[in-house]
Amino acid sequence: MDETVRIKNTGLKGVTVADTKISFIDGERGILIYRGYRIEELAEKSSFPETAYLLLNGSLPDEEQLNDFNRKITGARGMPTFIFDTFKKWPRQSHPMDVLQASIPLLAMGDPDLPNDTREANVLQAVRLISRVPVLVAGWHRIRNGLEPLPQDGKSSHAGNFLWQLSGEKPDAEIARDLDICLILHADHTFNASTFACREVVSTRAHMYAGIAAGVGALSGSLHGGANAEVMKMLMELEAEEDIDGWVRRQLDGGKKIMGMGHAVYRTVDPRAKILKEISLRLGTKLGQEKWYHLSSRIEEAAVSEFERRGKPNIKPNVDFYSASVYHMMGIPNDLMTSVFAVSRVAGWCSHIIEEKFAEAQERPALYRPTSEYIGNYCGLMGCTYEPIERRK
Ligand SMILES: CC(C)(COP(=O)(O)OP(=O)(O)OC[C@H]1O[C@@H](n2cnc3c(N)ncnc32)[C@H](O)[C@@H]1OP(=O)(O)O)[C@@H](O)C(=O)NCCC(=O)NCCS
Repeated sequence: MDETVRIKNTGLKGVTVADTKISFIDGERGILIYRGYRIEELAEKSSFPETAYLLLNGSLPDEEQLNDFNRKITGARGMPTFIFDTFKKWPRQSHPMDVLQASIPLLAMGDPDLPNDTREANVLQAVRLISRVPVLVAGWHRIRNGLEPLPQDGKSSHAGNFLWQLSGEKPDAEIARDLDICLILHADHTFNASTFACREVVSTRAHMYAGIAAGVGALSGSLHGGANAEVMKMLMELEAEEDIDGWVRRQLDGGKKIMGMGHAVYRTVDPRAKILKEISLRLGTKLGQEKWYHLSSRIEEAAVSEFERRGKPNIKPNVDFYSASVYHMMGIPNDLMTSVFAVSRVAGWCSHIIEEKFAEAQERPALYRPTSEYIGNYCGLMGCTYEPIERRK
């Protein structure tokens, strides 16, 4: 029996390529679940380290386990010195996502557990990555601005320490908690493009860092994690625009996208967007910058009604729509927003890599190896005649 399945140019949409026990989406109802727990409840009651533990280990930690996990994260923040020395030689205008992607193999080079491919060693690597990705992001931001990277503030939360290492200012506790919630919301999302990239790479038995570097690359694109920076660009462009409805119409008539809208899986509002919208309003009110919230919700209203008019009622705000204004108000520059997504998503990537490598949701590990259909030049199975260069026209 021919078992070939022909699905071409669909971006694998709707194709189930593996089982997973890590997260679940109901796109029709707008539900996101990590390891059985609703995202709304985690956002309200959990912390990012606790959520990362849940994603990695499959169950919520008890107090001692969480303290131990937090100690390990704090303990791993100090990095081999050659990494920041290397950063100092790189062009300062380099995009933070390029720097992040390029620095993941540097972490691999400094990891003593690399040759050891046991599950325990992979969990240790995961903890180091969760701990160090924010340090890399903050460190590059300082170095590109001619400043020295800062030592951690071990007493702050994971989110609070990131803000401190980025800006050198102790963050307001409520703002640090809001960032902590953002990190919970972005931590995992089933088989999105970057997670799939991570899993595909480690299915070859490449190490965890090789998978994470691929994930960072996939996340950088504007249809994926890069969308938050694009949304902020749009907000800045539209700050003085009076005719938002007209702008939306012109954008769509010109075949352009409204960034931060639409989703490959959700057919309704992304549940994360609802929470981020609340944070955007809360932060705006606290900081006297409600204009970003009001502008975002005005664009949302205009875009949703225009999409409906065009027969696309399922296109609603996604996670990137309100995270843009939230990150902006937290003092995070536009070109660093996608890296903040990575600070969080690294927890999901590592969990998926472990699940993939150790076949925790499948019978056995498998190498991803889809097929393609050749539609190029063809002269038969003997191949085309190779003409010497002087005889070619
Ligand atoms: C995320 C995204 C790539 C999903 O695209 P998708 O899987 O093709 O989504 P759909 O199948 O629902 O799209 C249906 C149609 O709506 C269009 N569409 C979807 N989102 C759109 C948007 N934000 N702006 C304009 N048109 C959009 C698609 O181009 C497609 O048009 P077509 O039928 O004429 O080809 C898409 O919504 C998008 O590009 N959004 C903007 C970028 C973004 O915010 N990315 C972050 C995602 S978390």
